[in-house]
Parts: sequence; C-alpha cells; structure tokens
Amino acid sequence: MAILEKELVTNLNKINSKESTELNRLDISDEELASIDKEYCTYGDKIHAEPNPKVFRDCNGSFMYDSKNVPYLDLEMWFAACNLGYKNKRIRDAVVNQLDTLPQISSHFQYDYKVLLSEKIAKANIKRFGRKGRVHFNVGGSQVIEDALKLVRNYTHKNRMFSFFGGFHGRTLGASCLTAGYRYRKAFGHFADEAHFVPYPYCFRCPYGKKCDSCNYYCVQQLRREFEDNCAGLYDHSSKEASLGAFFVEPVQGSGGYIIPPKGYFKELKKVLDDFGVLFVDDEIQMGFYRTGKLWAIEHYDVKPDVITFSKSLTNGLNPLGGMWAKEELINPEIWPNGRTHSTFCNNPIGMRAGYEVMKTLEEGDFEREVANKGKYFLDGLKELEKRHKRIGHVDGLGLALRIECVTEDGYTPDPELLHNILAEGLKGDLSYNGKKCGLILNKGSHYNNTITLVPAITISYAEIDMALSLLDQLFTRLS
Ligand SMILES: Cc1ncc(COP(=O)(O)O)c(C=O)c1O
Repeated sequence: MAILEKELVTNLNKINSKESTELNRLDISDEELASIDKEYCTYGDKIHAEPNPKVFRDCNGSFMYDSKNVPYLDLEMWFAACNLGYKNKRIRDAVVNQLDTLPQISSHFQYDYKVLLSEKIAKANIKRFGRKGRVHFNVGGSQVIEDALKLVRNYTHKNRMFSFFGGFHGRTLGASCLTAGYRYRKAFGHFADEAHFVPYPYCFRCPYGKKCDSCNYYCVQQLRREFEDNCAGLYDHSSKEASLGAFFVEPVQGSGGYIIPPKGYFKELKKVLDDFGVLFVDDEIQMGFYRTGKLWAIEHYDVKPDVITFSKSLTNGLNPLGGMWAKEELINPEIWPNGRTHSTFCNNPIGMRAGYEVMKTLEEGDFEREVANKGKYFLDGLKELEKRHKRIGHVDGLGLALRIECVTEDGYTPDPELLHNILAEGLKGDLSYNGKKCGLILNKGSHYNNTITLVPAITISYAEIDMALSLLDQLFTRLS
C-alpha cells in the first residue's frame, strides 16, 4: 500500500497546485457569487438545500476543489453521472474532436456516432440478454422515463404503472407519477396516473417485519395475491388482462438509499409480472455503466428486462443525454414509427460522441473485475468502521454502490440529524489526510433520511478508498 499512498500524495499535490485551477477560475469571489445568487437565482432547484451553498472551482479524477485549492474527495460524483472520473482525458478528447468536426446537427438528420452508439448498446444487450432491440435517445433521465412511459402506453394502452416505495424516477410530470415520495408531488396537485406503489425489498427494515433468510419473498407473494384476487383491481381474470402496463424498477434503489435487494428477488417478481402480462422496465439511470460492476445492475439478478432506461454516466457528465433500449416487439418501426416522440436536442452530437467513447472505454477495460474487487475492499473497510462506531447501523454494497445507515445509540433507530451533520462537516474542508487538509463530499438517500450513499468514481484507486475510509472514520469520531 506504500506505493499507492505515494501515488495519492502526488495526486493531492497536483490537485493542490495552482496550475490545475488557473484555467477556469473567474475573478469573482465566493461572497460576490453568493450575493448575485441571492438576488437572481431560483431557489427551486437543489442548490439551496443549505443556507450557504458550497462553491467549487475545479475538479479532477475523484476530487473537487474549492476556492482555496482544498481538495475534496468526491463520493457522490455528480449523482453518479461521472463514473469514469472528472476530466477523464479520453472522453474529453473525443468531445473536443467532435467540437472540431460535427458539433451541431439537427436531430432529424443522420450522422455516424448516433447510429454507432445505438449499435453498441443494442449489441451489448444482445450479448447480455439474448434479445434484439433498438435504442431511442433523449436529453436526460426524466425525459427518458417520459419516453419509456409513452412506449409502454403505446404498446399496452395502459396509463398506470407499478413502482416501488422509495423509488425515484425523475421530476417531470410523468416521471413524478412513478416517484413515490409525496414531497416530490405535493406542490403540484393531483396526479391522475400516479403509480401503484409496492414495498421495495428493504430487508434491513422490512416493511412486513419479516426476516430475509426465512421470508420466502413474502413481499412478492403479497403482490401475487393481489393479482389473483379478481376484486383487488389489478387483473380481470375473465379477459386475462392486467389493469397496469409495466413495473418501473430500480435494480438497486438509488435515491432510496442504495438498497440492494436479495439475490433471487427480481426473478420472483418477474415470474409474477410474466404470469399476469405486465412489462418490466429496468431503470438503470443511476446504477448503469458499471456502478455495480456490471454494465446494468439488473444483470446481477438474472432476469431479462423488456425496457432499459439509462442516462447520467452515459456521457460521464460531459453532455446531457439519456436513452431507452426496448426489445424489438415494443419498439420496431411498425409499432413505434417515425416521430412517436422527439426533442430538439435528443440526438445531439456532443453527447453521442461522449457516449460512444464511454461505451468503448467500458468495453475495453476490465471493469467487471475491478469494480467487484474495489467494491469488496471498500465494503470490508466499511464493515470495520461499523464494528467501531455504534452510530453506524448498517453497511452494504454491490460493486461501488455502497451505503451506511446513521442510527442512534440503540443501533437501529434512524438518525437523520447525524446524517445531516456528517454531510455538512465533510464539506467544511477541515479534515486531514497524510498531513494535508481536505474535505469529503457525500450524498444522502433513503426512506428515513439517514443513509449515506457512497458513489465513488469506478476509476477510484485503492489509495483513495483508504483515504475515504479514514475521512469517514474522522467524521463519525467527531460527530457521534
Ligand atoms: C433511477 C433514476 N431515474 C431517473 C432519474 C431522473 O434523472 P434526471 O435527474 O436526469 O432527470 C434519476 C435521477 O437521479 C434516477 O436516479
């Protein structure tokens, strides 16, 4: 580990150096920014969750850094949009090349990278699921969810869908119908097509009070019972028709707190959906692109989705782009013809080029093995922390999607205040590692507002994982 530590210190020094920040720093202080922001910027997005939003000036690899060049190890990575690390040279160079060749083209003309990226994703899915399908693009996660809703409605003629308690699928009006938390909807009136919400297999806090090793997927059996009951509203047994079109599924629940379902869960669920003719839409917007050690997190569960939605790390954060893949039956040109849905920027060339280079990078690397190994190393470290800190109630991980639940002294009751304090303390930038000042960027999620979600770059080094564990240790020691 000594060599890796040396490598980390060199990186920190590089990040600390003036050279890496000079390029993009405007001559405007954090205080000036705050005063302009107060006057002219909306408070309706998420920047103002805290009274004094943190200002960063640069980023590199696994780090962001502030106006004083203090490096912050980032375990959030733009909500999982930058799996390959900030300023990834290969993706950047491809985008610069695209800027110099064909930076603009109307979304109703054809060009190379749009077609080639579709082919890459479609072929990756043939390899994984043995299913031919097609790809349709749009500009971000929620927009892709809208398109998937249209695709399902177009095929099934059903408006309503299933979704999970704790599920998050975006904030446009259609996507909000699938997003469970009432706080996302309450300001906007009644949502006629609100999903039928079903408990997620959150085994650490099982909504049915069962134990995972003995429950025999009780939650799935409950859903089956609802279908079997002719009067429960889900299924008409005489015409053999479900009243809902699809189940929108997060294979690992993202905003819900990186909850990892038990191994056989989705197979059981899929059996029920297949028996009653409901489509399976796999939302990989947060978990895709090797976050969990597979291109798609659903691959861990050995089921074949009918539709996959993806966005975020498709372009490593360099241009907003997302897409949906669907099996041929749902998306062939007869059933999904020209113009079924479209947007001005849906086929934008900068995003396509970034996406193509991301897919190529993922194909050429050994991310399956690397992410599994690094994830295990990180999780082992978290388990050590759990032993030493009473206020850590549960840790878990699948690849590099990891979680820590903050709890009170009893080891189980959720402690949202501790979570809040830990996130705020990490952003102060006064932790230390190898004698250097630094900070830690963490994200939160969950049903009880008490879970740290750890979303490092999948390119994170072992030395950086050691640093992450040390900084987490410092935070729990300071605050619990
Ligand atoms: C699983 C999932 N679906 C959809 C979305 C919405 O994506 P966007 O924020 O790009 O609209 C998100 C965003 O976090 C997500 O995690």
